[in-house]
Amino acid sequence: METETKSQFPKDFLWGTATSAHQAEGGNFNNWSEWEKKNTERLAKEAGKKWQDWQQKRFPEMFEADNYISGKACDHYSRFEEDFNLAKEGGHNAHRFSIEWSRIEPEEGKFDEKEIEHYRQVILALRRRKMEPFVTLWHWTNPVWLEEKGGCENKEFSFYFSRFAKYTAEKLGNEVKFWITINEPTSIIAAAYIIGIWPPQKKNLLIGWRLFKKFAKAHAEAYKAIHSVSKDAQVGFANVLHSFVPYRKNSWLDKFSVFIGEYFANKKMLNLTEGYNDFLTVQYYFHNRFKFPGKVHLGDKPVSDLNWEIYPEGIYHILKRLKKYNLPVYITENGLADSDDSKREKFIKEHLFWVHKAIQEGADVRGYFYWSLLDNFEWDKGFWPRFGLVEIDYKTLERKPRKSFYAYKEIIENNGLPR
Ligand code: BGC
Repeated sequence: METETKSQFPKDFLWGTATSAHQAEGGNFNNWSEWEKKNTERLAKEAGKKWQDWQQKRFPEMFEADNYISGKACDHYSRFEEDFNLAKEGGHNAHRFSIEWSRIEPEEGKFDEKEIEHYRQVILALRRRKMEPFVTLWHWTNPVWLEEKGGCENKEFSFYFSRFAKYTAEKLGNEVKFWITINEPTSIIAAAYIIGIWPPQKKNLLIGWRLFKKFAKAHAEAYKAIHSVSKDAQVGFANVLHSFVPYRKNSWLDKFSVFIGEYFANKKMLNLTEGYNDFLTVQYYFHNRFKFPGKVHLGDKPVSDLNWEIYPEGIYHILKRLKKYNLPVYITENGLADSDDSKREKFIKEHLFWVHKAIQEGADVRGYFYWSLLDNFEWDKGFWPRFGLVEIDYKTLERKPRKSFYAYKEIIENNGLPR
């Protein structure tokens, strides 16, 4: 029986979680797996400089080299049925995951039917459980053959990517409606090509600048390729959107920093892909207070285990700003590293409160995907940050739903926030 809700979401709203291949599947061979092997010792050594004392104390795994090797990850590749049973038990009616390009095209131009079949089984497993699949085609990993040719910088990147997208959509298009081409292009531009902490670790503004257009072209080509083989497809890209505020309200320098941040992080990619999106997405994690020429971290705000400030209201402003594009919106990621699960329920409820307010004021939001179903491999940080509704014991691979798993379930059952 439905309990009384204080904020009812639209009928047919999609509720689910998101995962990605490299972070959950295990057993991948791609540019990241190769980079991990070369960098594991360094990353373990640098942890002492990178993280605060309280983090170092709570997560001593960060000093172990093993932490930085994705290895078998959650073994989701073999255990997807079991994991989808959990999602079903949580009441989810949608699920976002990614297809690993290096499995589908392990050698340039050679496609592996067996791996397509694997992902068909993944999709059918979702369909059997009445969960709508959202399929991401590129969640940051390149096949090694492509990386050897320059990866995303290769001038034919859009050709290679759209060929893979077309092949995959041809094979799986009957089973899939929602396609997400590229995950967070601006995160890769920033972390891999400007700050230089992710593979291929370049610090080059010019390359970063050019990649905006490259990714936009790759997205547009994939958009056309998918539509050419699958008439009913809905195609978009997964866009991380940030909340920015000036630290000093009257400082034009701080306001100028916000303007620059808004432009490069939030607007440029949307503008470049205009006309090639059937829906928009929001992936929301970051609230930034700009104090020129840097950012300020206020000590008195709630934070995640990664020390990222929790600022639920930010998602409301982001959704309001997307209204002018007049497209349906899916929140394809929003989540928290919270190993003891003490803040996650509140985090989800408060974000949904602001999402609901935006909907009431006209935002066309049609789904919410919490990041993530399972704890998983958090890229250069390894396994210690725990984002899952379901806890993983990495020794035994046992899955254990956290309290927040059931809180999210209750929200889904009520299609809104309980009173
Ligand atoms: C990415 C995920 C990542 C999450 C948490 C998102 O930007 O798409 O792969 O795990 O953030 O950092």
